[in-house]
Amino acid sequence: MITPLMPTYARNPIAFERGEGMYLYDTNGKQYLDFYSGIGVMCMGHSHPTLVKALQDQGAKLWHTANGFTIPEGERLAERLIANCSADTVFFGNSGAEAIECAIKMVRKYHHDKGNAGKYRIITMASAFHGRTLAGIAAAGQEKLTKGFEPLPEGFDVVPFNDIDAVKAAIGPETGGIMVEPVQGEGGIRPIPVETMQALRTICDEHGLLLAVDEIQCGMGRTGKLFAYEWSGIEPDIITAAKGIGGGFPLGACLATEEAASGMIVGTHGSTYGGNPLAMAVGNAVLDEMLKPGFLEHVEEMGSMLHGRLAALQQRHSDLITEVRGQGLMAGIRVPSIPTRDIVLDLIDRGMCPAVAGDMVVRMLPPLILNEDHIDEAMNKLDATLTYFKEKTADS
Ligand SMILES: Cc1ncc(COP(=O)(O)O)c(C=O)c1O
Repeated sequence: MITPLMPTYARNPIAFERGEGMYLYDTNGKQYLDFYSGIGVMCMGHSHPTLVKALQDQGAKLWHTANGFTIPEGERLAERLIANCSADTVFFGNSGAEAIECAIKMVRKYHHDKGNAGKYRIITMASAFHGRTLAGIAAAGQEKLTKGFEPLPEGFDVVPFNDIDAVKAAIGPETGGIMVEPVQGEGGIRPIPVETMQALRTICDEHGLLLAVDEIQCGMGRTGKLFAYEWSGIEPDIITAAKGIGGGFPLGACLATEEAASGMIVGTHGSTYGGNPLAMAVGNAVLDEMLKPGFLEHVEEMGSMLHGRLAALQQRHSDLITEVRGQGLMAGIRVPSIPTRDIVLDLIDRGMCPAVAGDMVVRMLPPLILNEDHIDEAMNKLDATLTYFKEKTADS
């Protein structure tokens, strides 16, 4: 018999009851160090006082109006976001998938309005993840996402990861844009090298294409910059954000330059809940914290420390960890000889929550507020888990 909740997820029986800072507590009171952040969402940790207050204050005043009215907190959030990136305008939705949908529509509308309606195709990279809408799964092109959902929307050309020659070869008269995650998340925590990001910008300029960066997982401070593309010094035309932008409140955004968004006029796009007063209040509270002097520097410092400690862990377990990947507080260890899920389950048992990523990678996306003690605690647990598997293999 089908479960009341549609069974689209493999759910762990553990249910969390509350969260505080870096820790989650299950219904039995057991404590877990959160290195998952609900898939990179809880950037300020759990029950952050600024966010809780913003939610409670706004909750007591006004939740939702409609986008036919002015939403001052939305204007304020958009202004603050564009002041801190290459975009000039923002569309708010409720999720990453919606932000991606807006980005794809924008690429098509841009060329359409320039008299080039045939330039609708978008080049993406293998092992990418762009959400679960039909367009999102078509954009990523992975069989595990698309199988059974055909026919898929037309217009995506997937090239191998980080292969500039393949990108160039894929460009044709119908190409309108390129969309990449500066650091792939689901695909196995793979940063696109700075030189590749720069080459993509040059290619887009040469061919009149729009460059869209999917920052839904790697953006909002996770790498130590507000957006991960900033490390490469380029300016994208379109940026998608979600997850951390709402600190746990469902919020997504598609940010764009004035030129890229030139076709997005009244009536071209919308979302009933997108950018409602409740979401905007929390979004502004997240940004209050993230833009505080020293916050992003703290993320960068903790990121370097985490990667240093993971490199040391790799030395200690060089037979198991083949690679340490990532940037800032988006990190992964590749352990091909043990099923990733087994490692994650053992860590959960020991009171730490990491996540699975593709390519046999244990993924770590801790809240950005962590300190050295949390990194030490995580390393001790990882060390214990890897030692356990090593001993288990030796015994068998
Ligand atoms: C890079 C990237 N793009 C898009 C999405 C889709 O976001 P959502 O699940 O909020 O629709 C995700 C979610 O994991 C993501 O990591």
